[in-house]
Amino acid sequence: MSEYEQLPSYWMSRSSLPVFEPLKNNLKVKVGIVGGGITGLTIAYELSRRGISAVILEDGAIAGGESSRTSAHLSNALDDRYYNLEQVHGKENARLAAESHSAAIDYIESLCKEKNIDCDFERVEAYLFNPPLQESDNLIKELNAAKRCGIDVTMVDKSPIESYNTGPCVKFPSQAEFSPLKYLEKLSHCVVEMGGKIFDQTHVKEIRETKDGCQLITVSGNIVEAENVVIATNSPINNPFFPHLKQASYRTYIIAGSIPKGSVPKALYYDTLDPYHYIRVVEESDSDTDLLLVGGEDHRVGICADPNESYEILERWTKTRFPKMGPITHRWSGQIVEPIDSLAFIGRSKSHSKIFIATGDSGNGLTHGTIAGMLISDLITGKSNPWEKLYDPSRKSLSALSDFVEENAVTFAQYRDWVTEGDVSSINEIKPNSGAIVRQGAQKIAAYKDSDGQIHTLSAVCPHLKGLVRWNEAEQTWDCPCHGSRFKATGEVINGPANCPLARYEKG
Ligand SMILES: Cc1cc2nc3c(=O)[nH]c(=O)nc-3n(C[C@H](O)[C@H](O)[C@H](O)COP(=O)(O)OP(=O)(O)OC[C@H]3O[C@@H](n4cnc5c(N)ncnc54)[C@H](O)[C@@H]3O)c2cc1C
Ligand code: FES
Repeated sequence: MSEYEQLPSYWMSRSSLPVFEPLKNNLKVKVGIVGGGITGLTIAYELSRRGISAVILEDGAIAGGESSRTSAHLSNALDDRYYNLEQVHGKENARLAAESHSAAIDYIESLCKEKNIDCDFERVEAYLFNPPLQESDNLIKELNAAKRCGIDVTMVDKSPIESYNTGPCVKFPSQAEFSPLKYLEKLSHCVVEMGGKIFDQTHVKEIRETKDGCQLITVSGNIVEAENVVIATNSPINNPFFPHLKQASYRTYIIAGSIPKGSVPKALYYDTLDPYHYIRVVEESDSDTDLLLVGGEDHRVGICADPNESYEILERWTKTRFPKMGPITHRWSGQIVEPIDSLAFIGRSKSHSKIFIATGDSGNGLTHGTIAGMLISDLITGKSNPWEKLYDPSRKSLSALSDFVEENAVTFAQYRDWVTEGDVSSINEIKPNSGAIVRQGAQKIAAYKDSDGQIHTLSAVCPHLKGLVRWNEAEQTWDCPCHGSRFKATGEVINGPANCPLARYEKG
């Protein structure tokens, strides 16, 4: 499951992903980790540092999932706002959330220093502002709540962006930015140097619970016996229901283009729109310009008439505010998972005390993945951790009930695709390099015509919980609007919770 057929991110165009061997034999370890993004790698690093034998099994390339598609802001300016967290989880828990994200940034910084990781890590400030003409007391509310949570925020008249008068901003100190793939490549080597094992191109097709732990069964038939298992697949694949009914998958878009050096001061910038825009600058040492990265236009996976339009809207928004930006050089999208009560699920899976999950990353998944590294390693080694209850996947947050009802109403509405017509009435209408849903009696077929004109016909039924996939023209993928599973044009799974390909269509 990785990026191969998707538009590559800026980071992917600048660094190659680390390469390991696939698993070719059976293994017995203390901890088996499924997924080698920032979450799996940080957990493996932290366990290896503590002398625990850990193995990562990664389906595609290490760091080739959402961790390669990020915008790489390291921030404790949480996108769900501290005043909301206080309301849903209480003041003490909101303070713990702030503490955990600050600790994650510190963790990455000290690891970079200790291991000499040259990944452009730099401390910067963050500015949070309202969109123009929006009269609201939300900035004051956030200022006060963030202060109560122990963050040294201040209110300033405007951000330092010259071309765009943002108006008043909450300024967050001591945030950071880095190059994610440079960091993760070095982290993967540190894991191996400390005795951890990493295998890529190794798809885990089944997790079997046993009396003493678990077995991870790979698609090539190898078995890893592990006392503990961590599902670090971004969207968990071990349980079809939990926690997928308590979170929703969103697609988010990024564009990048050059700007004159120094024309936008290095900082993290966010507005408070829903969906919001996130902005940062990348200093390119080998170029006489900087790169501006602007993200936003998020929508539920699979629920968007034309993803190309999302890029166009983002570009128009950006060019109005940053008129010195040159042509767009990179554009890509990725997936984030939004939990209904705004906090990630990190800890013991509901079903089994030896299976751990880390999901619900929101737009703060790099710090969430790093928090998971610290928290899950503590849980496995029996060390107490102040954030255990906060992120407990089995927690109940009744105050978030309305969000729960709303997200699941959107999910259930997607099943009406079973009774609608196809996108086209015949496969002949599909253009090369494109896909469409075609109805054949009671069945729906996901038909893709490749560049040679060859037709690939698949069942449109998502193997997770029988939603119907939709064609994503911009990414050339099949996306399931129910819980965010995604598949390549030829059916291989890219994002969970589905963990197997779309079935071949057999004429019945
Ligand atoms: C466009 C975008 C911008 C973002 N910006 C920010 C930001 O500025 N700051 C921030 O903090 N966060 C940001 N995020 C979120 C953050 O990047 C992610 O939350 C984070 O990288 C997720 O890391 P992960 O390790 O959980 O998942 P991933 O990196 O996706 O890793 C999971 C891995 O599991 C593997 N896998 C899945 N199933 C299997 C299987 N069955 N067997 C074996 N392996 C499997 C996948 O191949 C994948 O490599 C952004 C995300 C996107 C998409
Ligand atoms: S992702 Fe759940 S039904 Fe498709």
